[in-house]
Amino acid sequence: MNNPTDYSIREHILSLVDWSNVSSVLDLGCGSGDDLREIAVLTYSNARLVGVDTNEKAIEVAREQSQGDERLTFIAADAANGLPFDANSFDVVFSKNLLECIVDKDAHLMEIHRVLPPGGTVLCAHYDWDSQLIDGEDKELVRKIVYTFADWKQAWMTDSDGWMGRRLWRTFQRSGLFQGAVNAKTLIETEFVPGAYAWDRINDFRALVHRGMVSAEEFERFYRDIEQLAERGEYLYSITMFVYVGEAIVSQGKSL
Ligand SMILES: C[S@@+](CC[C@H](N)C(=O)[O-])C[C@H]1O[C@@H](n2cnc3c(N)ncnc32)[C@H](O)[C@@H]1O
Repeated sequence: MNNPTDYSIREHILSLVDWSNVSSVLDLGCGSGDDLREIAVLTYSNARLVGVDTNEKAIEVAREQSQGDERLTFIAADAANGLPFDANSFDVVFSKNLLECIVDKDAHLMEIHRVLPPGGTVLCAHYDWDSQLIDGEDKELVRKIVYTFADWKQAWMTDSDGWMGRRLWRTFQRSGLFQGAVNAKTLIETEFVPGAYAWDRINDFRALVHRGMVSAEEFERFYRDIEQLAERGEYLYSITMFVYVGEAIVSQGKSL
């Protein structure tokens, strides 16, 4: 998440919390730690910042890129398997684009609630993959490619839900464990160039051809169309990021 448009999404997400009094943060599904390093800039100079991810390679990269900052710790662990932390041990639990991969989301939210003290903050951000809008001549083809991608459960995912963004609200509401609000920000790009967020996503769609979900002819036609729009300065891509920010409330004994 290091190109300018995508960076503006991170800036927006991080602006939803006052980090100045935060002394401990847990990032679930932290990947290579980009968000946590950005959070490190905003928190206490001695804050405890912990990232968890199942991907050991991503954790190695996170550790390498965070050398020299002893506040940051990265742990290879499955966040769906109970969190390996004491109750009330973090001020903030942050998580971006992980929740769709968690099979038992209700149990996961109970774990997030357990590691937060009453009043602790959860910030859970998720793109809604079905919200990807790409202009093109053939509406049916663009819809087919976007929807097929949104519904594709990739090998590294134990679960997937292309609608996780719009479903953050109901997932947190039904838990009865948090009081919060949902917020959304749309990323828009009008340049189709390497380094752009959508350049990577649209090139990711090529994997659908390798899996027989979209034909090579369909993908090439879709891609050519985008290139032609871009050559004329008419290309447009957008995707919406939903963000739930809430505080842990004392549970009313509501069963999940
Ligand atoms: C789409 S990436 C998001 C990475 C990062 N949060 C970001 O927004 O750039 C999802 C991450 O969740 C991790 N992940 C998937 N299932 C997980 C699980 N059960 N426990 C911990 N991490 C998981 C993946 O390895 C991957 O790094």
